[in-house]
Amino acid sequence: MNSHEFKQLATNRYSCRSYSDQPVTRELLIEVIEAAHLAPSACNKQPWLFIIPNNDQERQAVVECYNREWIKTAPEFIIACGSNNEAWHRASDGKDHTDVDVSIAIEHICLAATAAGLGTCWVCNFDVKLLRTRFNIPDELTPIAIIPIGYPSEGNNIISKKRKPISEIIKWGKF
Ligand SMILES: Cc1cc2nc3c(=O)[nH]c(=O)nc-3n(C[C@H](O)[C@H](O)[C@H](O)COP(=O)(O)O)c2cc1C
Repeated sequence: MNSHEFKQLATNRYSCRSYSDQPVTRELLIEVIEAAHLAPSACNKQPWLFIIPNNDQERQAVVECYNREWIKTAPEFIIACGSNNEAWHRASDGKDHTDVDVSIAIEHICLAATAAGLGTCWVCNFDVKLLRTRFNIPDELTPIAIIPIGYPSEGNNIISKKRKPISEIIKWGKF
């Protein structure tokens, strides 16, 4: 893949909030998780676990944790969790790197899914307490994001990216 193709992949990834009924195979779900598996992590701790709801009842439980109509259209979900105990903590200030590591892995999933023609959306605004209860998530794991995943519905294409001008996000040299 050249840099143009990578930029195109990053451009093609967008927050998909409408999915078709087309099912996603277990093989394809494993394939996108393999991209997370390759993600870097601080001290290579790999402090992540991906919960994939296994039946309609479990998928319904995810829907109940995020109060938006559109999420009901997603055929599958990946619940990305981090282990604060396993993650690297920086010696100088104790900073816990769980969120950093799991976020990189999640974005690998989103990009791999895009390459496979699938849509995804980061969802962090969920009811964490309810999600914990519904999936019996142990205390040592923190649910970080729900990733709905599926084929985008017809006509649901890349919405133009709203981004700050590049000049605003680069600071050459010191303050
Ligand atoms: C950490 C994080 C949390 C997010 N949480 C939500 C969410 O709870 N619900 C939602 O609809 N979108 C959520 N998003 C998606 C953002 O709104 C979206 O990425 C942003 O508006 C840019 O649009 P794009 O992804 O289409 O490029 C989240 C994104 C990130 C990175």
